[in-house]
Amino acid sequence: MKNLRFLTIVGAIFASSVAVSVAQTYRSHLLQHEQQIDSILSTMTLDEKIAMLHGKNMFSSAGIPRLGIADVEYADGPFGIREEMEPDSWNSAHLTTDSATFFPTGSALAATWSPDMAYSYARAMSREARLRGKDMILGPAMNIQRIPTGGRTYEYLSEDPLLSGALSVAYTRGAQDDGTAVCLKHFALNNQEDYRGFVDVRISSRAMHEIYLRPFEMAVSEADAWGVMAAYNKVNGRWCSENAVLLDSILRRQWGFAGMVISDWGGVHSTVDAVTAGLNVEMPGSRFMGQALLDSVKAGKVSEDVINQRVREILRVRLTVTPVAKDVANKRPVGNAEEMAVALDVARRSIVLLKNEAVGSKAKGVGRLLPVNLQTVRRIAVIGANAVTRMALGGVGAGVKTRCEITPLEGLKQALGDKVDITYAPGYRAYDAGSRYKHVDPIQKADPQLVVEAVKAAKNADLVIFFAGDNREVETEGSDRTTITLPSGQDELATALAKANPRLVTVIVAGGPVDVRTVSQASASLLVSWFNGSMGGKALAEVLTGKVSPSGRLPMSWPLCLDDVPAYATGSYPQKVDNNAQGDIFVGLVNNQSNDRRQQLIANYAEDGLVGYRWYDAKGAAVAYPFGFGLSYAHFVYSNLTVTPTAAGFDVSFTLANASDTDAEEVAQVYVSRPQSRLNRPVKELKGFQRLMLKARETKTVTIPVRRRDLCHWDEAANTWMLEPGSINVMVGGSSASLPLMATTVIQ
Ligand code: BGC
Repeated sequence: MKNLRFLTIVGAIFASSVAVSVAQTYRSHLLQHEQQIDSILSTMTLDEKIAMLHGKNMFSSAGIPRLGIADVEYADGPFGIREEMEPDSWNSAHLTTDSATFFPTGSALAATWSPDMAYSYARAMSREARLRGKDMILGPAMNIQRIPTGGRTYEYLSEDPLLSGALSVAYTRGAQDDGTAVCLKHFALNNQEDYRGFVDVRISSRAMHEIYLRPFEMAVSEADAWGVMAAYNKVNGRWCSENAVLLDSILRRQWGFAGMVISDWGGVHSTVDAVTAGLNVEMPGSRFMGQALLDSVKAGKVSEDVINQRVREILRVRLTVTPVAKDVANKRPVGNAEEMAVALDVARRSIVLLKNEAVGSKAKGVGRLLPVNLQTVRRIAVIGANAVTRMALGGVGAGVKTRCEITPLEGLKQALGDKVDITYAPGYRAYDAGSRYKHVDPIQKADPQLVVEAVKAAKNADLVIFFAGDNREVETEGSDRTTITLPSGQDELATALAKANPRLVTVIVAGGPVDVRTVSQASASLLVSWFNGSMGGKALAEVLTGKVSPSGRLPMSWPLCLDDVPAYATGSYPQKVDNNAQGDIFVGLVNNQSNDRRQQLIANYAEDGLVGYRWYDAKGAAVAYPFGFGLSYAHFVYSNLTVTPTAAGFDVSFTLANASDTDAEEVAQVYVSRPQSRLNRPVKELKGFQRLMLKARETKTVTIPVRRRDLCHWDEAANTWMLEPGSINVMVGGSSASLPLMATTVIQ
């Protein structure tokens, strides 16, 4: 990996804490073209400059044709290069060369807990972006998963800032090392889809910096991200696309961001405020940053210096990313073996085993159902529409036109078809919103006819694999789920299946948490296989058959019910709006409606920094499955913890033994707590982690560094990061709820 960082930490003594400043010392790779940009700017007309500051087509903004400077070509992102649209509409361009690999979506990538995987993922996506003629991938989508019901929880990474940040850093390096810019989105606090077009997030600056902004800060200051997308919503009273606190004070001044900020599609609301705050490109169209901007400059409301600065920031990216010639783009097939192999690698590491208990009788033998025992299993009943549903497309927003998506049923047939008799019954009707923009309650009753048919198949089988969960119509951009109850009567079906045959394995296909209370009780084994990309079905078959031991870990706590979720428990979500509230901003955009958002709606983040496990820990609340949780076919033993201070923080070393006969990967996790702190702090916080491969019976000494920088808190009075000296408890284990090792150290 190229190291583009010039990050030094400047320390200064402040009362009892140490202030850590990273602002002025980070130097972006983008800054190497300044002289060339000076000379380009000196020859440009005002019209040419303004032309660069807004959309040219639906997914491009203008270069400077007279000077041979190419347009900037954007692509959704974040989990595969989206198909080509007609220049001025959302209609497909109907090309035959614009397919791509469907990579596992964000929550699946995050379940790998592997920055190496995130690096390969983005690098592979960048190779496809190049074949497709793109300069900037509109991803990673990296907002904190605040609510399980969030329409884009499946695209986002984690409820934890360190996990989200580490993966976003790696994603950014992967894409940019290969030559494609990233666009970190959505900056910032776009944590819900309902009313995203006008909700105003009110949050303390400490929670904002420590939880919600931290992943963005890491991707900028540690990986030199070249692009950022301003979110649709407001933060503390100002639209993100004109929010000078976010775009100027924090992003550019505190973090040293040197690249370009583009708006979310249709998310601009002003001309002078937006361009002055730091927005570079209005996307798509030119309502605010076209003629209106030209007029504002001519009227003296915006100085040409500001325009020059915004153009400079775009040119830095344009001169760093090599353009793909128009006659080369979209000519060669995309979605090739090398990229598909990366999608497979990620998928097989993302699958989370939640439960694997012994089942059976003395007469027939007692044992775990997974991995599938091919000595005894001759007939498998595969139940559930999600076994055959493709997840590359669906709902609103990002999706991939892929040449290949192996469904779970296909994966099982490919792996076992010659050894085992596999029957399939749909069991339930896949939820279909009907109209893309209509809210329909997915919680429907089971279809008695389909249940009868499924139960019959289950009775005749040695093993039942039930595919439950959501689909891309249930989890979608533009609207949140109203519930986490499984759709289409799946709970009722699971209970009926378990009665018919207790040898029941349930696979949850979903991007975010669902209520697993019923299926978990009904099933001897339970897994999560996410929206897992082109190779998802193959990866799942490898895990079910034991070719690969499951090694995914939940990147978000799975609550028992919505009332327990911090935003719900504090009454800050869902917000109440009157019935005349306007629909989603994107829908307005598609229908060519104005994006005037007069509706006022405040989302008061009352849980403050206690997001996800930080809240459940503080309240002592039980969850269905905790953050960081996931079982393995192997058995890992942790011992011998030592903590050694280093210049950068401290090293956490321990012994990890694979006490089983199965080769397997493990995700070791390091949490810290500060019981003697003078500040309000969570019970514990993730501060390090590492994915490791251990052969059967192998023992390794593992060292995970914890950085001083990650131990800092945001000091609201000083408006900066501070490190509080004192003692720190360090806990190590394989999940946030299983931390067998503990040691205490002192940080100065
Ligand atoms: C989404 C963005 C996306 C853009 C372009 C918006 O509605 O919020 O994430 O990149 O559309 O498709």
